[in-house]
Amino acid sequence: MARCINRHLQLHFTLLLFFLTICLICSWLFVSGKQYLNATSEFLNSSIKILFWHWPYGIHYNLTGDVCLNDYGIPRCVLVDDRTLFEDADLVVFHHAELSKQKVHLPVDHPRPAFQRWVWLSLEALPNMANLKAYKNLFNLTMSYHPQADITVPYGKLIPKEKPIRDFVIPINKSHEACWVVSNYQKRHRRSAVFQELKKTLNVQVYGHFARKPLSKEALLPTISRCYFYLAFENVESPHYITEKLWRNAFQSGTVPVVLGPPRKDYEAVAPRKSFIHVDDFNSTKDLALYLRSLIKDPEKYHVYFTWRQNYTVKLYTDWRERLCNICPVYGRFPAQKIY
Ligand SMILES: *[C@@H]1O[C@H](CO)[C@@H](O)[C@H](O)[C@H]1NC(C)=O
Ligand SMILES: *[C@@H]1O[C@H](CO)[C@@H](O)[C@H](O)[C@H]1NC(C)=O
Ligand SMILES: *[C@@H]1O[C@H](CO)[C@@H](O)[C@H](O)[C@H]1NC(C)=O
Ligand SMILES: *[C@@H]1O[C@H](CO)[C@@H](O)[C@H](O)[C@H]1NC(C)=O
Ligand SMILES: *[C@@H]1O[C@H](CO)[C@@H](O)[C@H](O)[C@H]1NC(C)=O
Ligand SMILES: *[C@@H]1O[C@H](CO)[C@@H](O)[C@H](O)[C@H]1NC(C)=O
Repeated sequence: MARCINRHLQLHFTLLLFFLTICLICSWLFVSGKQYLNATSEFLNSSIKILFWHWPYGIHYNLTGDVCLNDYGIPRCVLVDDRTLFEDADLVVFHHAELSKQKVHLPVDHPRPAFQRWVWLSLEALPNMANLKAYKNLFNLTMSYHPQADITVPYGKLIPKEKPIRDFVIPINKSHEACWVVSNYQKRHRRSAVFQELKKTLNVQVYGHFARKPLSKEALLPTISRCYFYLAFENVESPHYITEKLWRNAFQSGTVPVVLGPPRKDYEAVAPRKSFIHVDDFNSTKDLALYLRSLIKDPEKYHVYFTWRQNYTVKLYTDWRERLCNICPVYGRFPAQKIY
């Protein structure tokens, strides 16, 4: 009997040992497998790390989570604003306005990793910028609205529709011939002279701080949509400098833009010929005013300025995160070595 129990115990012990060995082998396989997987994902990940040295105009955005992937569908693109991550960053982006006002300084004392590129960023009109000379030989890439920048960040663009669809309703309840939203009114601007001349012939409704009629964000587009024409007048006439005055105020509100800014060919590079009216198309502002009025009286001719909408939708860029995330898809195209 005793012998029988002994044999039983022995059997149990052997089984236990067997199971323990299996467990050990399993966990070893599990751990090493995970390490292998981790290593692969790290390799596959090889995210591009972008450090935003400071936020433009002091307005911070939320960078929690994988913003580029979750909000813009751009994978392996990491956006940070934590300066302690400087040494890991593939790109460090500096916004010009704060640098030129000496509010922010470049980390010139930090040892700069060899792979790292510094990006100079500005969306302001190039002639408006002061102190450019102070930054010679520091930057590797430029980021601006200009098509010749290494990274072009337009204020907006037109996206072709897959097939022409007449899904756009022309707002017909118009109460003003033309509208203009202006805050920074300065007599020396050419646009001010054109406006003064235009309003002799045309009923131009003015909004914004200049007219003491500021429009809230919500009221902007509905208000402008009540006008036949919108004066998308840039404060500076500089090549390719076309701002949200065209993309949002005019196009998104469903009115016809009368543009003043770079030459017609710059507009035609980004928008159809018959989507806007250029101030320089006319010999005089009076001729322009008379042409606008003739369109108001002839709905068929006026509607021609809306037909492009069958083929395009308007995309507006306003979020700095989206602009920065959009660096990643063009990262591979940057020159290997470049110094500005
Ligand atoms: C890979 O990327 C994802 C998302 O970007 C991140 O959560 C994960 O930690 C990364 N893995 C490794 C091993 O770096
Ligand atoms: C930032 O974004 C994350 C993820 O979208 C969200 O959970 C969090 O509440 C946000 N934080 C703030 C302060 O808005
Ligand atoms: C047209 O505009 C007037 C104000 O000028 C407003 O009272 C009216 O409701 C609008 N009509 C439509 C159809 O939106
Ligand atoms: C501008 O003036 C010229 C010469 O007077 C004339 O030939 C031309 O047709 C005018 N253009 C427009 C758009 O009125
Ligand atoms: C829209 O696209 C179609 C097909 O590509 C073209 O035939 C048509 O002329 C375009 N319409 C406008 C207004 O550009
Ligand atoms: C970036 O510019 C710095 C400073 O001029 C230079 O030393 C470095 O080689 C450049 N790096 C690249 C990748 O162009």
